[in-house]
Amino acid sequence: MIIAIPLLRNALAIATLPLLLTACETEKTADPTQAPATPAQVEGTIHVCSSCHGLEGKSISPTFPRLAGQQEAYIEVQLKAFRDKTRADPHAHTYMWGMAAHLSDPMIAGIAAYYSAQSPVAGAPGDPVEMAAGQKIFVEGLPTRDVPACNACHGEHAEGMETIPRLAGQHREYLAAQLVNFASNARANEVMHANSTPLTPAEIRQISAYLAAQ
Ligand code: HEC
Ligand code: HEC
Repeated sequence: MIIAIPLLRNALAIATLPLLLTACETEKTADPTQAPATPAQVEGTIHVCSSCHGLEGKSISPTFPRLAGQQEAYIEVQLKAFRDKTRADPHAHTYMWGMAAHLSDPMIAGIAAYYSAQSPVAGAPGDPVEMAAGQKIFVEGLPTRDVPACNACHGEHAEGMETIPRLAGQHREYLAAQLVNFASNARANEVMHANSTPLTPAEIRQISAYLAAQ
């Protein structure tokens, strides 16, 4: 009886081995992008997101971008870029790679539909001189340095379109940080790299102040 116990354990271990292997195999071959997402599951996930991005995506802390009223297609592209680790600026890495790693395509679609349907946060006015200088760049660009008018892509009211993000009412510090990320290529995007590289720190402050106030 005394030796029967370890023998039994071994027998059990051998019996369960194929089951474990099958489980591993299933995990490896299962396509996470096809897993279905019910409304209740989307709601549950958004509850997790709200700890940083705020209720309805109306974040209060400038580290966490506002998602309320953001463009649906843009949210989808960014969540996939976090999941693929192609959006690789330091905060993307620290905060969002883990969050996005297990989101399926249907879940991403559900999340994007939810946040894009929320009303955007009204902007907070900043220093009037800075805002006026920022508005000039937004509307006219910097022709002598080949910076196009931002409104040509981001829209007259910085509301964005499709995969071009809404900038209006976004946190000023977040916007400024992204312009620095594009310039350094920490966040790789050819178009925005070209548009942000010529900007001076003062111009980044001005444009961010203007956009945060919209
Ligand atoms: C622990 C805090 C935290 C949690 C939880 C979190 N995020 Fe984020 N999220 C961030 C930060 C910080 C950024 C900005 C990353 C950067 O600076 O590049 C961000 C960026 C984003 C962006 C890009 C916004 C833009 O304007 O480009 C989206 C979309 C997003 N998060 C969605 C989500 C979703 C969906 C969830 C829940 C599944 C979630 N986040 C959970 C911290 C968080
Ligand atoms: C030719 C079109 C185009 C022009 C002009 C343009 N942008 Fe963009 N912008 C984009 C696209 C596309 C993205 C999304 C990049 C990505 O997917 O990472 C973007 C992203 C951004 C972001 C990141 C927002 C976020 O939520 O993370 C900021 C900030 C930004 N642009 C500011 C500007 C400013 C300021 C100007 C003018 C100096 C400008 N853009 C001009 C196309 C443009």
